[in-house]
Amino acid sequence: MGFDKKDIISIRDFSKKEILYMLESAKKIESMQGREKLLRGKILATLFYEPSTRTRLSFESAMLRLGGSTTGFSDPKGSSVAKGETLSDTIRIVEGYSDIIVIRHPVEGAARLAADTAHVPIINAGDGANQHPTQTLLDLYTILKSKGRLDGLTVAMVGDLKYGRTVHSLAHALSLFDTRMIFVAPESLGMPDDLLDELKGKGVDLTSTASLKDAIRSADILYMTRIQKERFPDIVEYEKVKGVYVLSSAMLSSAKKGLKVMHPLPRVDEISTDVDATENAVYFEQAKNGVTMREALLAILLGRLK
Ligand code: NCD
Repeated sequence: MGFDKKDIISIRDFSKKEILYMLESAKKIESMQGREKLLRGKILATLFYEPSTRTRLSFESAMLRLGGSTTGFSDPKGSSVAKGETLSDTIRIVEGYSDIIVIRHPVEGAARLAADTAHVPIINAGDGANQHPTQTLLDLYTILKSKGRLDGLTVAMVGDLKYGRTVHSLAHALSLFDTRMIFVAPESLGMPDDLLDELKGKGVDLTSTASLKDAIRSADILYMTRIQKERFPDIVEYEKVKGVYVLSSAMLSSAKKGLKVMHPLPRVDEISTDVDATENAVYFEQAKNGVTMREALLAILLGRLK
């Protein structure tokens, strides 16, 4: 099966077939002979207007592992953005220096704007509270690896479902599969109404609750998230909900057998470190899977993987 998309901006742009193809490609690239030469001569630019550890470094690592090289910035204060350069101008310049661009930006829609300007492929590494499609792909890859399937699972998403872009992308992607969803959030941080309407319209079996304990009992996947402090217009509102869910290993005693705990990371206090050594914890593996998944995405978009 071929792949005709130029960019990765929103998970909504992809069919179930295309998503499965990307996951298959990740599996394929893991054991591919000669992958260290696959992207030789290619340059990845990473333009990060917001903090990042995993996303930026795993994209860079993926490019280096496939024999390519990288350029870019991790803080716009050190670039001409600080002099007032527009995003479109920055993209026009950087596309002359690279073959593919990964961008993270605080403004929703920024990656789409970049893609409209650019002639090289653009990958959205997070645009405000909107979307984080490559995180979703590595999340699906992790679910597939740890549970052996994507269908017939109950997935609980916990924490900041309002501002968390990872869960926005993930909920949409999982709606393409046979997934029961449980949304665990305080009232002020629930899933946006338009996303809830979309999921309900598709007939997704979903429950919204404030109780983490109830969710632990029925979930196959517990997807914890950080309260997105930086997106709160009012710090007082953040103070009201910070630390609302903290998962400890003791709480996992009521879990279904085989429950896997995921988190896009970074964690603040949502998962106690005593969970790390349990069989349930897969969040460090999840972060590592990011490299493989992103290797596949770079290779696909650069036309080196069929
Ligand atoms: C997430 C993000 O940036 O949205 N981090 C990541 O990419 N792994 C989650 C977060 O910051 O809470």
